[in-house]
Amino acid sequence: MNALVVYESLWGNTAAIAHAIAEGIGPNTRVAHTGEIDPAEAATVDLLVVGAPVHAFGLPTSGTKASVATRRVAPGDLEPELDQPPVRDWLARIQSGTGIAAAFDTRVRGPLGRGGASKIEKLLESKGFRVAHVSQGFLIANEKNPKSAASMLREGEIERARQWGAELAVLAL
Ligand SMILES: Cc1cc2nc3c(=O)[nH]c(=O)nc-3n(C[C@H](O)[C@H](O)[C@H](O)COP(=O)(O)O)c2cc1C
Repeated sequence: MNALVVYESLWGNTAAIAHAIAEGIGPNTRVAHTGEIDPAEAATVDLLVVGAPVHAFGLPTSGTKASVATRRVAPGDLEPELDQPPVRDWLARIQSGTGIAAAFDTRVRGPLGRGGASKIEKLLESKGFRVAHVSQGFLIANEKNPKSAASMLREGEIERARQWGAELAVLAL
């Protein structure tokens, strides 16, 4: 099975979840951020998984990223990575696909933050992908003062992501 996990991530949390999902899907699963993988590749895979952080109840935009760029980074805090193309732009550039797809996001709240993954799902469906599994939101403990990405993800979320990846792999067989 040919699987690809694509993400956008400012402080590394969505990246860490993406890597755990890829691990759960199985060996040889490619995992990359939106700046590392040509959108044309999406049409060639059996399973496409796409994720992003929730920003303002939806997907990151140039506006939400600009607001982050103006925040002062205190000594010892992580610098946000602001150069990755927004996931919505990456999705807009993929060709129609017929494979199976799934969406995830990372967020600080529960249902209030639902906007990210559900928007990715809609964009995937608009390109012809079959969304095969209910999308997942993975929780962040505190994004206000990030010292390290690992300390931000709530306990158990990496394992849950790995497990979800394994479930996706079964659906895509
Ligand atoms: C500008 C901005 C807006 C955000 N809005 C929301 C929100 O509406 N709901 C939510 O649950 N989390 C929100 N968050 C928290 C992010 O989801 C959190 O920073 C993200 O999951 C961290 O993932 P990353 O390290 O991959 O960037 C927001 C964060 C930023 C920077």
